[in-house]
Amino acid sequence: MRAIVCREYGPPSALVLSELPDPQPGPGQVLVRIHAAGVNFVDALLIGGSYQIRIPPPFVPGGDCAGTVIATGAGVTDFAAGDRVLVSPGIGAYAELITLAPVQLARMPANMDFAGAAVFLQANATAYFALVNRGTLKADETLLVLGAAGGTGAAAIQVGKALGARVIAAASSAAKLEACRALGADVLIDYASQDLRAELKAATGGRGVDLVFDPVGGALAEPALRSCAENGRYLVIGFASGEIPKLPFNLPLLKSCQVVGVDWGGFARRHPEAGRAVTDAVLALYAQGRLSDPPLAHYPLERTAEAIADLAARRIAGKCVIDVAPEPSGHRP
Ligand SMILES: NC(=O)c1ccc[n+]([C@@H]2O[C@H](COP(=O)([O-])OP(=O)(O)OC[C@H]3O[C@@H](n4cnc5c(N)ncnc54)[C@H](OP(=O)(O)O)[C@@H]3O)[C@@H](O)[C@H]2O)c1
Repeated sequence: MRAIVCREYGPPSALVLSELPDPQPGPGQVLVRIHAAGVNFVDALLIGGSYQIRIPPPFVPGGDCAGTVIATGAGVTDFAAGDRVLVSPGIGAYAELITLAPVQLARMPANMDFAGAAVFLQANATAYFALVNRGTLKADETLLVLGAAGGTGAAAIQVGKALGARVIAAASSAAKLEACRALGADVLIDYASQDLRAELKAATGGRGVDLVFDPVGGALAEPALRSCAENGRYLVIGFASGEIPKLPFNLPLLKSCQVVGVDWGGFARRHPEAGRAVTDAVLALYAQGRLSDPPLAHYPLERTAEAIADLAARRIAGKCVIDVAPEPSGHRP
């Protein structure tokens, strides 16, 4: 099979398109032909050796994909050849084939295609877990999403709207904010040209926001935390800016708010059943038509490095999807 290999830690340009032996499903395993893979910010960290989990090279990166089951090993009863599945394997998705345990797989809703499925799980499960399990978002609360045109941000806009929140989307350009509007955001703030704190004050009548979803960190963190309403919650998602903010400890006291850490991957590993409930919940929202695909930038497998570089350099509104292999006829909903 063709696969993208990280032979040593480095930038995306160091990734190599290689021929690897086709994997075979062992007992209790499922073999999936990958049709599309989703690009995540964390891919750049993993191949650079700067993620909190270090995977020794060589390895095939790629944390999200969707495809068709083509074979099952002994003892597999819950999936069969032809099933359309999506999965967040963590690594291994930038390849034509992957073997997995059935428990890792979810079935694609009938209204989802492979490209939409490939970019769905990590972003939407993170957003739902953050907003519901960690942030206890209630209908009619005000949600601020930073990096709102990014992968987790775009998902947070849509999940927030589906849960009945008023969503303020903040991003760095007019084009990115237009994408946020199309995803359902109620208020748009350009933090590259506008004062985030003053705009949030104006948008909330001085009250502040109930929940902050922050995958960016850096210089945005303190004005966003200072903009929390009483009993507000500030969700620490990630640090796409490259800077882990250092916040004055008196702020949660003065604002009567909470700073809440979010680790979707760790939670799903430690609590697989509760993690599955999150995955089922977001897939149900998609099946009901209450979530939709973000804008997608398509790349073939051989241009995976370019896709990761474009995402890491803030050039993308929405998600990058790798078209690994054409969708087989007869499997489309
Ligand atoms: N805690 C968890 O469970 C969890 C789960 C998934 C991901 N994450 C983390 O969340 C972060 C974001 O992931 P994502 O998939 O949403 O990433 P993404 O699709 O790349 O979006 C990140 C956004 O951050 C903004 N940004 C600001 N400064 C940036 C910079 N210097 N470089 C790149 N982007 C910058 C960009 O928007 P603007 O240009 O509009 O500012 C970009 O759209 C990552 O750190 C990732 O590891 C955490």
